[in-house]
Amino acid sequence: MSPLRIGVAGLGTVGAATVQLIEENAQVLALRTGRRLQITAVSARDRDKDRGFPANRYRWYEDARALAADPEVDLVCELIGGSEGIALDLVRQALRAGKHVVTANKALLAHHGGMLARLAEEHGAVLAFEPAVAGGIPIVKALREGLAANRIRRITGILNGTSNYILTTMRETGRDFAAVLAEAQAKGYAEADPSFDVDGIDAAHKLSLLASLAYSCVPRFDAMQPEGIRAIKPVDIDFAGQLGLRIKLLGTARLTEAGLVLRMHPAMVPLDAPIAAVEGVFNGIAVEGDRVGTTMFEGRGAGAGPTASAVVADIVDIARGLRLPTFGVPAADLVERNLAPAEDLVGSYYLRLEVVDRPGVLADIAAVLRDHQVSIESLIQRGRDPEQPVTLVITTHEAAEGAMTRALAVIAGLSVVLEAPTMIRVERA
Ligand code: NDP
Ligand code: HSE
Repeated sequence: MSPLRIGVAGLGTVGAATVQLIEENAQVLALRTGRRLQITAVSARDRDKDRGFPANRYRWYEDARALAADPEVDLVCELIGGSEGIALDLVRQALRAGKHVVTANKALLAHHGGMLARLAEEHGAVLAFEPAVAGGIPIVKALREGLAANRIRRITGILNGTSNYILTTMRETGRDFAAVLAEAQAKGYAEADPSFDVDGIDAAHKLSLLASLAYSCVPRFDAMQPEGIRAIKPVDIDFAGQLGLRIKLLGTARLTEAGLVLRMHPAMVPLDAPIAAVEGVFNGIAVEGDRVGTTMFEGRGAGAGPTASAVVADIVDIARGLRLPTFGVPAADLVERNLAPAEDLVGSYYLRLEVVDRPGVLADIAAVLRDHQVSIESLIQRGRDPEQPVTLVITTHEAAEGAMTRALAVIAGLSVVLEAPTMIRVERA
């Protein structure tokens, strides 16, 4: 069979590792696909940069878009990044030219996934994105193929390694967010501009793609309101431990009668939940299907080797002749799902209040919660010094998020409450 000719656009962390993997594992890949995987062309900005392999072995393009027009490229790997600009241009042009595309770019698909999936089908091309979600974990394949028989009840995931590393290290060392972020940057885990990682945006991009696979819908990142981990304090991590809970940046997707629930925010999870054991730079995803029950996927969600492993897994599928729709159903059948209003969602909450220590304060706060139909589950009070603020930690039974938010606004306005209250959701399911 003729070789599959590959153009690699972007030769950074993922692109360089992809080229090396294809070269070094050429024999086993040829055996598994029945054809040779041949890199014919590459593109990056700086031709003179050391990539760890002789880049002059391949045709070099200054402009990545040229890969789309190269008659000796059957498949384009888009490993540049960014939701607009060169990555979008390249993927569009490659698909229009009938070339298959493998991309690690979750931002691109979270913003343009529906349009690009249609374009791929119109031109008889495959658009595949295993490396875009959770790096080396084959979660896209699992949802699209292995779990295809199930109605997916719920997806719960830790989808950003940088923020999980920061939360884990804060807990282990007692240091605050800023100090641990600086260390993560020094170690190269976090970017100089870490906002996509620590503000929940990168993880929300990924969750929106998993939801599209599970619920046959166009990615709805546009409607999400991700919250990140900047506001998490060591004191809350400590209290979580005392309550038998652990704080994670948690994504949740499920389909309800009120619409698609698609949330990314810090949450406290029980210490004995499998997701609580996903630590450091690792990612973890729990998928609950109506027939299979809960399946748990854990592994390296980023890095050169794991992400290249996922890029080449998609290439292998294409080389074998597998032609699956991007999000598991024909693009024309993808539906636009509205998000369920956050204020109607029911959950439990952890509240931390810094208050004046005097008789009646607790009663005032409990009265506000009562007036908003929020029921208290447990209460911890630490300290006893009328001159000093005292910390009050309350966990609640299930209540509508809108009611909780309104109650908190009233509590924040009480003269006995000395700092803005902290609220963290508790996910026990
Ligand atoms: P890098 O920043 O390491 O590499 C980006 C590459 O793109 C560089 O080689 C750069 O060229 C090249 N590039 C930038 N602009 C252009 C352009 N206009 N034309 C041609 N090439 C260009 O990024 P990563 O490898 O980390 O990430 C790539 C993609 O993979 C992103 O979408 C990212 O979100 C995704 N991803 C990354 C993971 C990771 O662990 N790093 C994990 C999962 C997904 P030059 O080298 O010359 O500057
Ligand atoms: N920056 C991401 C993370 C990896 O920290 O998980 C790329 O998706």
